[in-house]
Amino acid sequence: MSVLINDIEVVKTETSKINDIDFDNLKFGQVYSDHMLVCDYENGAWKAPKVMPYQNISLEPSAKIFHYGQSVFEGMKAYKDADGGVWLFRPMENFNRLNISSKRLAIPEIPEAYFLDGLKTLLEVDQDWIPQKEGSSLYIRPFVFASGTGLHASPANAYKFIICTAPSGSYFSGKVKVLIETKYSRSANGGVGYAKAGGNYAGQFYPTQLAIDKGYQQVIWTDDTSHEYIEEAGAMNVFIRINDTLITSPTSDRILDGITRKSLIDLARSKGINVEVRKIKVSELVEAAENGSLKELFGAGTAAVISPIAGFGYQGKDYELPELKETYASSLKKAITDIQTNKAEDPFGWRYKV
Ligand code: COI
Repeated sequence: MSVLINDIEVVKTETSKINDIDFDNLKFGQVYSDHMLVCDYENGAWKAPKVMPYQNISLEPSAKIFHYGQSVFEGMKAYKDADGGVWLFRPMENFNRLNISSKRLAIPEIPEAYFLDGLKTLLEVDQDWIPQKEGSSLYIRPFVFASGTGLHASPANAYKFIICTAPSGSYFSGKVKVLIETKYSRSANGGVGYAKAGGNYAGQFYPTQLAIDKGYQQVIWTDDTSHEYIEEAGAMNVFIRINDTLITSPTSDRILDGITRKSLIDLARSKGINVEVRKIKVSELVEAAENGSLKELFGAGTAAVISPIAGFGYQGKDYELPELKETYASSLKKAITDIQTNKAEDPFGWRYKV
């Protein structure tokens, strides 16, 4: 039986899984909430979204997603504060970026109301799934893919937009050591690096596995032509602290316009930290590691928030980062998560009450 919530059709599950979940020991993205939002694109238009029990979806083997990888996604989080208030962080940034990614992959753009009202309705239905424990949140995965069939290498004529959610703990645990990649690249000029296309991540798995086999956990991506400039860290943007200056690469065709990245730039500047958004050479990083001016290196993204890097390998040599008592990484992580979880003032207006 379906009901209307915020004008959206909702079919509730008859068998909630919530009592099977150990909310005190959540991993990242491994258990999924009871419901999902599904919206279909057919005959040239997006149909009204529906909330339904989380379930398998049926696709023909000739669905274009399987052959041509036409798919994009987003990563977001919902937080529950001490009073039970539910919050999102800059959701319109995710909405806009999803459509920027879709455009690049020739996928029809989603109407704002379907994304935002659909997400709010889903969160209302599954509000008990939003963890309150510090460091945990409800990870939200909106994605769009080609469900339409055909082996002709051209855009599909049918798509699905789905949002599923996963109560999650931290993305990384333990120390992260990275390898600076000098052969493989994540993206190229004129390519899809700036889009959150599923294939961008699939293309990272093999080089990352080679780095894991060598004893590292992640790869630092360099530019595709010279491999001299630092671009991203794993599936995240990257920040480098030399003395008291924080440096991050400018976004481009090749670099994702990370929401955590741009929030950290504003937050760091508001705390009086000197932030330089400029290209940075691997040689500058190595020189700083050698002369002691390299203080911190960290990845930044929605899933991990900030992931400090303990050391890096480059051309057969390993470099260690100093173990500082007070780091920009930890103070910025606290500042951004306090805003996200409604524990601190939000002078930027980033927090969004659901
Ligand atoms: C995120 O940080 O949310 C991302 O999209 C990265 C993902 C591969 C976990």
